[in-house]
Amino acid sequence: MNKKVIAIIGARPQFIKHFPLEMAASDHFNLMTIHTGQHYDENMSQVFFDQLGMKTPDFQLSLGGGSHGKQTGQMLIEIENIVLKEEPDVIVVYGDTNSTLAGALVASKLHIKLVHIEAGLRSYNKAMPEEVNRVLTDHVSDLLLVPSKTAVKNLKAEGIEKGVFMVGDIMKDLIRISRERDVLSSDQIGDYLYVTLHRPYNVDHEERLKYVLESLKQLGKQVIFSVHPRTRQSIQAYHIPIGSNIKLIDPQPYFNNLSLLSASDGLITDSGGMQKEAYWLEKPCITIRTETEWVETLERGANQLLFEDLEKLNALISKKSKIVYDSNLYGDGYAADRIVGEIMNIL
Ligand code: UD1
Repeated sequence: MNKKVIAIIGARPQFIKHFPLEMAASDHFNLMTIHTGQHYDENMSQVFFDQLGMKTPDFQLSLGGGSHGKQTGQMLIEIENIVLKEEPDVIVVYGDTNSTLAGALVASKLHIKLVHIEAGLRSYNKAMPEEVNRVLTDHVSDLLLVPSKTAVKNLKAEGIEKGVFMVGDIMKDLIRISRERDVLSSDQIGDYLYVTLHRPYNVDHEERLKYVLESLKQLGKQVIFSVHPRTRQSIQAYHIPIGSNIKLIDPQPYFNNLSLLSASDGLITDSGGMQKEAYWLEKPCITIRTETEWVETLERGANQLLFEDLEKLNALISKKSKIVYDSNLYGDGYAADRIVGEIMNIL
């Protein structure tokens, strides 16, 4: 129990991924957290700690906003300061955000063992900052904990075989926990499509965002759109009118988001994690991107990519195809226990 592990978290998806690990790690090692402050609005950060009952971060930084270079650079400086004082045995990072990369570089420069949760994913699109973050992180990690065989294969293709363990997807643990707690029931009566969009290439440029929002209007169906701060900034800056069928709502706490998805007729998104959540909840998904890291959901016909011809949105989401859902896709919902086991092995 005297071994010290520091997890770096900072963006919305990392708070939720940290929760199952925090639960599973409690009797095994001292798990501390550094919150970089990459996401800082109450509904992008604090609500997750409150709703999931997570520990307050041991170190709270305020490094959100600003250019990616500045943000990552400042994180590097501040995380290093803390790590030098705390001398952890292991650093844990999640996924592919700027907070992930900053934590990985600190670990690597200080020769502290680095564990990457959700390693091995690839979009092969280097225009995505996340792709660069995850490739670099994987190449300096000691333990690469992956959710799928595809991820193992991707790493092998880059010459990484040592330290790779398939543990399943930690987000699946959250689905299991949500079902156990029976929090997915919703007051909402379906008959709407659920939408989330936040990728820079969909929301940062006026023409593109107008086109995307127009295509949602053309759906002629009720749409509930949970709006990320990046997207809201653009809608306001470009004064884009919103179709009367579209209801904009603020970013939702974890269980509320899942309930809204669960009660919907389907999901339209550019999020990574929500493509899997739609699969696990057996909802059809259209991903507004040209590629995805979660290729297994495409192969099973549960998820479809669409980027150029958004006029096809309605036809695609309404298509009733028979999908056989594999309840063990991306693991069995106990990834956190395996992750703790692997961390114990290197401690
Ligand atoms: C980041 C991650 C992305 C992840 C997403 C989840 C990177 C490169 N990208 O993207 O992989 O899918 O988080 O949401 O790390 N903002 C606020 N309030 C907040 C958070 C952000 O106003 O609480 C604003 C920022 O000031 C900035 C914009 O939203 O202007 C984008 O935030 P940023 O953290 O740069 O990246 P995300 O788009 O959230």
